[in-house]
Amino acid sequence: MLDYSEKIILAPMVRVGTLPMRLLALDYGADIVYSEELIDWKLLRSIRRENDVLGTVDFIDKTDGTVIFRTCNREKKCVVLQLGTCDAERALKVGKMVEKDIAGLDINMGCPKKFSILGGMGAALLQQPEKAQNILVTLVKGLTIPVTCKIRIFPTIDETYALCKKLVSTGISAIAIHGRTKDERPQHMNHSDIVQAVAKQLTIPVIANGGSKEIEKYSDIFKFKKETGCSSVMIARAAEWNCSIFRKQGLLPIDDVIKAYLKYAIDYDNAPSNTKYCVQNILRELQETPKGKLFLEAQTLEQICSLWEMDDYCRTKRKEYLDRGIQGRFQVIPTSLEDRKGVKRKFEEDDVFVLQCAFLRNSYMHDLELPKSRLLKWTKDNRKNIPIYHTEQEDKLFRSVVLVNGKKYSSSFWEKNKKWAEQGAALVCLCSLGVVDREKLEKDGSIIK
Ligand code: FNR
Repeated sequence: MLDYSEKIILAPMVRVGTLPMRLLALDYGADIVYSEELIDWKLLRSIRRENDVLGTVDFIDKTDGTVIFRTCNREKKCVVLQLGTCDAERALKVGKMVEKDIAGLDINMGCPKKFSILGGMGAALLQQPEKAQNILVTLVKGLTIPVTCKIRIFPTIDETYALCKKLVSTGISAIAIHGRTKDERPQHMNHSDIVQAVAKQLTIPVIANGGSKEIEKYSDIFKFKKETGCSSVMIARAAEWNCSIFRKQGLLPIDDVIKAYLKYAIDYDNAPSNTKYCVQNILRELQETPKGKLFLEAQTLEQICSLWEMDDYCRTKRKEYLDRGIQGRFQVIPTSLEDRKGVKRKFEEDDVFVLQCAFLRNSYMHDLELPKSRLLKWTKDNRKNIPIYHTEQEDKLFRSVVLVNGKKYSSSFWEKNKKWAEQGAALVCLCSLGVVDREKLEKDGSIIK
């Protein structure tokens, strides 16, 4: 059973806290790593797949085949999945789905973003302690793994303590407290005094959070721990900027951290756009340097890797994975299609050129690179009529046919929205016209050989 006392923890961070960053944090010395916040209904529409090529467990979105949560054995005993939820039963269903693959489940009760608040999740739960309690009790009773929550403070010690007392009474194993109110922003001072006064009165491990602005080196973690009187410390931004903050021996140069991060991103086939986002957040003001500018212009993972002399590694690994049959995307088919046999749809007609070619949204970093934009440009450059798209919907999935120069093209992949279905059809057309190199599509996993 995961023990939350006297630990140094990687905080949950949307987009940052995917598998490569979590593994890097563990390498550098973090004891526990939190996933990015994952929304309950998204996980509920996923299926669990063991990925033999990567050695991971993947939760795949049933509607579009993308990876929602990827984890591996190395982190099994120390990864906490953070859930965004406003409903006890839904949260329990998710908990049961994932409990064998993770070490703990955390409920986000601190997110102040509009999306969370309007959905009754995150910081909205701070205003509804009974609902928050109900979610936690349900999970504590129904799951075999420890349950925790992460909150923000109220403006006073008394209000914050009153809430914590209620939450602790549910049987949770620890509570993470971010020392800012829901209306305060990262630039505001963290109220370590309130965290300290509350932690003193609680009987379970309290995890202090919110100290990144003052955490510039390893020893600062312990200053923050002392200041807040907490059992454990959770770090977000300081780790986002330089993950080696967890290293006892001291910070590593940014270039070393990026290289180590890229290696994990390649090894675990992380989405290129997510990889770029994380590296960008490590670079920060260095984006203004000549190398930083080249980085911003990079359009493929290989180009990014070449800036840190890792393009050979990227190519070799990619080839190895493709040879072993890794897919860029899992192909999903609408269930209702089975019942409607005999009805021929546009994309099934004989004159449509169909290719098993996926539109991998994450592979495109600039809008101008998107297949639809490129196809439109091609038709203009070659004085052809502009492409005409026809899209059909089944369940909540879409497939398009595009008409260009008297010929029709479609991808065999179903997409979760009309726009992406059109992109898929455009990509097949570009491939057939030779504008996009088929070999390149095979290399990035869009086409399965
Ligand atoms: C966050 N934070 C956050 N919190 C949370 O509970 N779930 C989440 O998914 C996220 N996502 C997220 C993304 C990014 C990019 C940042 C910077 C922050 C808040 C975070 O966990 C933490 O509470 C605050 O950043 C304060 O801690 P630090 O940064 O001072 O250590």
